[in-house]
Amino acid sequence: MMTNGTPELKPILVFDSGIGGLTVLREARLLMPERGFIYVADDAGFPYGGWEEGPLKARIVALFGDLLERFDPEAVIVACNTAFTLAGADLRLAFPEMRFIGTVPAIKPAAERTRSGLVSVLATPGTVKRAYTRDLIQSFASQCHVRLVGSENLARMAEAYIRGESLDDAAVLSEIAPCFVEKDGARTDIVVLACTHYPFLANVFRRLAPWPVDWLDPAEAIARQARRLVPLVDGAEHPEGLDLAVFTSGVPTFSTRRLMQGLGLSVQPADALHPV
Ligand code: DGL
Repeated sequence: MMTNGTPELKPILVFDSGIGGLTVLREARLLMPERGFIYVADDAGFPYGGWEEGPLKARIVALFGDLLERFDPEAVIVACNTAFTLAGADLRLAFPEMRFIGTVPAIKPAAERTRSGLVSVLATPGTVKRAYTRDLIQSFASQCHVRLVGSENLARMAEAYIRGESLDDAAVLSEIAPCFVEKDGARTDIVVLACTHYPFLANVFRRLAPWPVDWLDPAEAIARQARRLVPLVDGAEHPEGLDLAVFTSGVPTFSTRRLMQGLGLSVQPADALHPV
């Protein structure tokens, strides 16, 4: 459809369990400035890290039935390792017409870059348990020593931090400490941030790390992949008005609403979304 000679484009939907996917949204907005965005946080189900696999998969697929019908996006970025490593294949099967851009632990680039051969993957307990994650290690990092570190608390801590609460250094350090491995005179040199919440804490991690490492954040690579799959349309401009944010709880806190406003996202009601 054209308005004033400008093609009207469908939006890109970015999905996460909470506000972690904003680390991907900000990169996607830079690379896809002509697109509107709808940010969906399944905060009613947050955190995804501790869920049993069956119920979580069913929840995500049912939720997408509603989201795709309601928002009719051009493509979906699943900006959540915990969701995509579990339900990515089911989503593609259930909605074959839709393009899904997934987020999986950046094990391949880490294996290509490491010099010491010691790589750690910091993720939710869900992501470290996934067959998908084990397969990535087997396929791309069999020559490395990969330490999987499942953190119970970091996603919540990242949410608190980004809303302006202060964190206890010792508590953060105890979550990241298992990532630092010394073996036969070599040390971990790359830690994969395999949860989209964690890049918000990257500066805290750098400050507290026992030694400097490369903290690998896949957000830009995910945005590039989205750009490849959704090419630029000549003459298209970002639609007027704000991008949208939807929280499945329907009741994001005041500080979350303020955060969304600061990012130019207008919070929409969550009515009619399925498994809330
Ligand atoms: N941001 C999510 C991820 O990338 C997970 C956070 C959670 O819900 O536990 O894995």
